[in-house]
Amino acid sequence: MTALTLIPDFDLTAHNTLALTARSRFGVKIERAEDFPALYALAAEQNLPLRILGGGSNVVLSQDFDGITALVSITGGGIIENGPDATVVEASAGETWHDFVVFTIDKGLGGIENLAGIPGTVGAAPVQNIGAYGAEVADVFESLLAYDTTTGTTRTFTGPECKFAYRDSVFKYEPGRYVVLSLCLRLKRDWQPNLKFAGLSELEGTPDLTPRQVMDRVVALRNSKLPDWRVTPNAGSFFQNPIVSLEDAAPVLAEFPTAPSFPQPDGRTKLSAGWLIEKTGLKGFRMGRAGISERHALVLINLGGATAEDIAALATHIKTSVQSRFGIALHEEPVFT
Ligand code: EPU
Repeated sequence: MTALTLIPDFDLTAHNTLALTARSRFGVKIERAEDFPALYALAAEQNLPLRILGGGSNVVLSQDFDGITALVSITGGGIIENGPDATVVEASAGETWHDFVVFTIDKGLGGIENLAGIPGTVGAAPVQNIGAYGAEVADVFESLLAYDTTTGTTRTFTGPECKFAYRDSVFKYEPGRYVVLSLCLRLKRDWQPNLKFAGLSELEGTPDLTPRQVMDRVVALRNSKLPDWRVTPNAGSFFQNPIVSLEDAAPVLAEFPTAPSFPQPDGRTKLSAGWLIEKTGLKGFRMGRAGISERHALVLINLGGATAEDIAALATHIKTSVQSRFGIALHEEPVFT
């Protein structure tokens, strides 16, 4: 067993897509799934809190963390089953999600092309059940392997055990309990493109349409709508789209009959948080070192040197403003840690 190397006064600015100024008392890279028991033992021995970080694309990191931040850097994966109806692909938690998408496309497999370009790692993908352009990871989920920090054992989760829902899974119920180690997806041979979403429907009818063509269109769409975190640091959608009762949505729809509203199977409706923020007059709004993107009102950006406090203050301002304008409560998507 290799000893874990704790790096003191670890700078995390380059390890979060919001590029927040953030340090941790210690940092450590975890490159093997077998190292988790030793990591938790070490943290307990030193009496320090432990924080697990993947790609840092869905977090608001506190300026100073008095503990150990572990970067999940386990890589690897491939095709693990090639059946007549489907191919099962696996990737380790530290792989970049988009690279995994490209791997499947290179193998001629369709199924996750609509999820191309989403920042972050494979390990984070099932936690919030990442989704875009009418697809989500739950649609093709086969199983995952996770380290249970309470029992110190590794266990497999099936789809139903993950309790996937819109941007939700069992891994959010008990934050910190499980660390995802690897993910398996089942990609059907009989691929059907999912072109329902505006922007993709124009591909409808393309002869011999391939998953790669859909992926390229998705990447182009994302580039045209969302700021690139490498250029303008951000954490993607900062709020979930609120799913509300028809009664709660009524004032919005009475004033704006064409407001985006997506009926849900349970009778409620999903409103668009970006639309609500824009209609509240906040698109492009700036508050200190944080702001709202001028390109997409759901994206909060770091204007330079922002800390978690700047982002939190802006997020509170947005929630209060939308609540008083429309009576709708917004909920943050990224985890404050
Ligand atoms: N809209 C506005 N103003 C804006 C932005 C959007 O009025 O500034 C309106 C749009 O015109 C559209 C509606 O809001 O009618 C929805 O916008 P969009 O199609 O951009 O999608 P979204 O609901 O804002 C969701 C996901 C994104 C995903 C896109 C595309 C959530 C919280 N966000 O955004 O995921 O890429 O759909 O499928 O569900 C992420 O989670 O980080 C993320 C980027």
